[in-house]
Amino acid sequence: MPGNIGRRDFLLRGTLTALAGAGLRPTSASAQVSPRATVAANDRVTLGFIGTGRMGQSNLKTFLKHPEVEVAAVCDVYGPNRDAAATLAGSKARSFKDFRDLLALQEIQAVVVSSPDHWHPLHTVLACQAGKDVYVEKPVSVYLAEGRRMVEAARRYRRIVQVGTQQRSGLHFQKAVKLVQDGQIGKVSFIRTWNYGNVLPEGIGNPPDSDPLPDLDWDLWLGPAPKVPFNANRFGVHPDRWSSFRWFWHYAGGMMTDWGVHLLDIVQWAMNVEGPSEVTAHGGKLFLQDNRETPDTLQVTYRYPSFVCVYENRECNAAPLDGHGYGICFHGSLGTLFLDRAGFEVVPEKTSKGANRCEPLTEKNSNNHNLAHSRNFLDCIKSRQLPVCDIEIGHRSTSVAQLGNISYRTKSHLFWDPKSETFSRNKAARKLLSPKYRKPWKLDV
Ligand SMILES: NC(=O)c1ccc[n+]([C@@H]2O[C@H](COP(=O)([O-])OP(=O)(O)OC[C@H]3O[C@@H](n4cnc5c(N)ncnc54)[C@H](O)[C@@H]3O)[C@@H](O)[C@H]2O)c1
Repeated sequence: MPGNIGRRDFLLRGTLTALAGAGLRPTSASAQVSPRATVAANDRVTLGFIGTGRMGQSNLKTFLKHPEVEVAAVCDVYGPNRDAAATLAGSKARSFKDFRDLLALQEIQAVVVSSPDHWHPLHTVLACQAGKDVYVEKPVSVYLAEGRRMVEAARRYRRIVQVGTQQRSGLHFQKAVKLVQDGQIGKVSFIRTWNYGNVLPEGIGNPPDSDPLPDLDWDLWLGPAPKVPFNANRFGVHPDRWSSFRWFWHYAGGMMTDWGVHLLDIVQWAMNVEGPSEVTAHGGKLFLQDNRETPDTLQVTYRYPSFVCVYENRECNAAPLDGHGYGICFHGSLGTLFLDRAGFEVVPEKTSKGANRCEPLTEKNSNNHNLAHSRNFLDCIKSRQLPVCDIEIGHRSTSVAQLGNISYRTKSHLFWDPKSETFSRNKAARKLLSPKYRKPWKLDV
């Protein structure tokens, strides 16, 4: 068993290599290093799971496939999900309603956070302060400024923090990104990303507010978010669909942050950028009659210095684009690269004489992204290198999606400086960068 994990440090070489690979410069905080890693490569890794709903249980099953993983505890504010996770984790695992009890366990080296988005910053920062490494689901936060605090916590407490944007660990995603970066489809000046679906006629429905479910601590579910009566859709857990907390502003950011983060993460990686300089968005809840707050129709345009990127979401018409209900399309001067979880395809541009301007290419998905991503996290716990989706990267990918929502909600053309993470004008937009936490919750790093 490793010693005091609060004293584990980054290895400079690993930090610099990972930052370079991620297209990032090392920050001064992450360069504070010690030449010592205290976890041997063959050591057991003892984990705790916070938030064990649909994705939490999926993450638990994935991590249990790694032979060195031991699960010391699971935690959920909702009894049935906690019990389901405890059954998966086995008889040695303890079970908690309050995550602070789980964080107090000395033997836990790292936590896997799959709570609703509005809890990710507190769960991550408090875990870092308790000396745990963290695997946190995307989007990293609801508010952009919270993401920056999470980066600061990771650096200050020298913790490994991996974000659950698992496509980064997909072999065909890595190959496609390299292909774009190597210029094989020429100069990319336009990129389209999209999610199309149809949840008509009823969407998520209109359940009335009611008493909270038995065996649910509704106050602890709300946490830093405003106190409101229980509503089945706000809580969201449902046997037949992904949890609907996603469609309420205090807990998430709609499809823009739920799926947009996955797609825009790949865009920013391939194009080696940290954020757009301008953002405009249009949309609305134009047809759905359910009690969701987020739009059913949205189009966001991002202006980066050397290219334009569009994100589109419609929930009232699922007509696919070239047969694809979601995806990323890089349009280059020599060819077009389409990419999704199933694989990628390069379609060459043609010369006036009909010749290909680049090589046509297709590639299928060839590995389990979740398994590879969790493997990378475990390896980094041991090596103290930055993981493939370090919190700085995950925060940047989340930020782009959050900017789309801020533009939509304030109906404004935003001018953004990714370096300082500020708007050059627009007070209303600035207000949406930071949350107001309900007492007693505070995000102190
Ligand atoms: N990487 C991916 O591809 C992927 C896929 C799906 C979901 N996700 C992410 O996983 C997260 C969870 O999504 P989900 O669909 O599983 O939601 P869910 O509602 O099914 O699960 C969330 C669980 O967290 C619990 N919870 C709430 N507050 C808590 C607290 N304070 N402490 C402990 N538990 C708490 C809830 O009771 C619930 O059981 C989201 O952030 C989502 O974006 C990622």
